[in-house]
Amino acid sequence: MKHLRLLSFAIASSVATVAAADTIKVGVIGPMSGPSAIVGQSFEWGINAYVEMNGETVGDHEVEFIFKDLSAVDPAKARALAQELVVGEGVQYLAGAFYTPNAMAITPLLESARTPFVILNAATSTITQSSPYVLRTSYTMWQNAVPAALAAREDGVTRAVTVVSDYAPGHDAEQGFAQTFEAEGGEIVDSIRLPLSTADFNPVMQRIKDSGADGVFVFTPAGSPALSFMRAFDGNGLKDAGVSIISTGDVVTETDLAAMGDPILGIKTTYHYSAAHPSDENRAFLDAIEASGGNVDLTSMFAVAAFDGAKVIYDMIAATDGAQDPEAAIAAVVGQSWESPRGPVTIDAETRHITQNVYVRQVENVDGKLQNTEIGVFEAQPDWGLVER
Ligand code: PHB
Repeated sequence: MKHLRLLSFAIASSVATVAAADTIKVGVIGPMSGPSAIVGQSFEWGINAYVEMNGETVGDHEVEFIFKDLSAVDPAKARALAQELVVGEGVQYLAGAFYTPNAMAITPLLESARTPFVILNAATSTITQSSPYVLRTSYTMWQNAVPAALAAREDGVTRAVTVVSDYAPGHDAEQGFAQTFEAEGGEIVDSIRLPLSTADFNPVMQRIKDSGADGVFVFTPAGSPALSFMRAFDGNGLKDAGVSIISTGDVVTETDLAAMGDPILGIKTTYHYSAAHPSDENRAFLDAIEASGGNVDLTSMFAVAAFDGAKVIYDMIAATDGAQDPEAAIAAVVGQSWESPRGPVTIDAETRHITQNVYVRQVENVDGKLQNTEIGVFEAQPDWGLVER
């Protein structure tokens, strides 16, 4: 039954290719509504900015992006939306996925659908290993957590507690941080895993204080969980108790900075993109976001992943002259390097994941607005979950 369904899915998708010969459709799945709607909007802003700078066509081929709303962790819906896009809409490429479980529900379909999938956020290392048709232009938890541990040790943090959301990217973040922190001579005094649905972090603050840690590494998905964690950290006086936060940038994304406010001033994180990145490419990107109707003040790594994701898709369309040839499309983009708004990047030929600088940043108030100011850099970081350090 399962085989039969997959077979009909494959046939339907190849029929759709013929019907859509001169318009190449790209399906984008992300939260377009609900509490994380800013993520889907940001995917849209990033793609629109790329189209603004590069046009709506690749050669003779018109490119059409079709957005589908997936507002929560819902693997069954993720799979259904991907099928609808491939079979119903005839898309030749897929992109998106905020949450790992949604991405993992889609990857088993890709080979029979002959559809490359460009991940625009989901950050668990194994996603690119789950299908040869997956590429990623965002980041992984390992990629940013290893530099976080190195930065913490450089700052003299000796005893750390980890607090992570209890699902795959949280486990990756915990492992990436702890392994590196211990290898560098630090001690992990407590490891706390909390349900992904945790909305109130006050109860865990006493446990952090009691652990005797001088640093806390935290991962929750960007958005309201990160906001709740920061409020509880501030409200329970952890900073005054001598505990500093050193985390990946998920907890201080540009989309959340204004709501977090002054209590987060000075917080250090490691991440691959800050909207304050000082480069001509980033300025051109932010100009294009503005020109195409996006909000520069809320532009973050979600938009940059989508901007670079659109570039990779345009390059795949060019390399195959619009044909549905996923092997040739992917072979054409792996190993490619370019200057992204975030800095120099390469799609690693082995992992199909983006190698990029990871910056040490500190939250500052510049002209009345909070930003992540880059104060250091770990150059050309691969996905440390897949590459030996
Ligand atoms: C994920 O589910 O992979 C995920 C979601 C939000 C983040 C990071 C990772 O900020």
